[in-house]
Amino acid sequence: MSVPVKTRRTTVPQIRARKGKEPIVSLTSYHAHTAAIVDRYADFILVGDSLGMVMHGMESTIGVTLDMMITHGAAVVRGTQKALVVVDLPFGTYEESPAVAFRNAARVMKETGCGAVKLEGGARMAETIRFLNERGIPVMAHIGLTPQSSHVMGGFKTQGRDQADWAVHEADAVAVTEAGAFALVLEGMVEPLAAKISKQIEIPTIGIGASAECDGQILVLEDMLGLNPTPPRFVKVYGDLGSGIERAVKSYAQDVKSRAFPSDKNTY
Ligand code: KIV
Repeated sequence: MSVPVKTRRTTVPQIRARKGKEPIVSLTSYHAHTAAIVDRYADFILVGDSLGMVMHGMESTIGVTLDMMITHGAAVVRGTQKALVVVDLPFGTYEESPAVAFRNAARVMKETGCGAVKLEGGARMAETIRFLNERGIPVMAHIGLTPQSSHVMGGFKTQGRDQADWAVHEADAVAVTEAGAFALVLEGMVEPLAAKISKQIEIPTIGIGASAECDGQILVLEDMLGLNPTPPRFVKVYGDLGSGIERAVKSYAQDVKSRAFPSDKNTY
């Protein structure tokens, strides 16, 4: 029996096949209306656990729950038609065992309709990545600066400044590739290491504060739109939404106070 397919999204194998080809465009989104705009240009959209800070004013991603990811993931899937939607597994929902990871990742896939999940960690997560992939859950891996481990790392620090550490990051990249990850986020990593890893492995690398030599790039949408007053230094800010919103809210407040609010258009 076949069912009519409503949308044709970019697939996991299509992202995987972009290795060494046209750079992969991706951004985060947590919200249906902004995701609908991003959808016109992005190959994949990440519902990142950075939503803890951006949407909920948290200090880190540690407090983000599976329910929060599911709520925002479902909103982004509903708002989009074309891009692959990838949803982050938040801290504490996958590290314990492959079985726990499967249970939580399956819930994310069922309740959001997303096409893949992302998790943080290299060699230590290889067994879990293999377990999920063999059971129908495509995994994007994430190494380098992994914010969920910021307490262990002692903060948000660029990785690979000491060349003696490179071998560990390279081994992580190879381990997740061999375990079946379809793409790998390299976050906060010195440029030559990210470029080296991008050449070494067979899956696309997606850089954020890493290297232009990665197979694609990702940014947190609100950072590049100018909504974050203190974006990370590596972020190129393409928009001016913070001051745009402020101007609009100020004009609205002035209209309300001066009773200049239009009343001749009270129809929906
Ligand atoms: O949560 C997030 O937004 C991310 C990106 C920074 C890659 O993981």
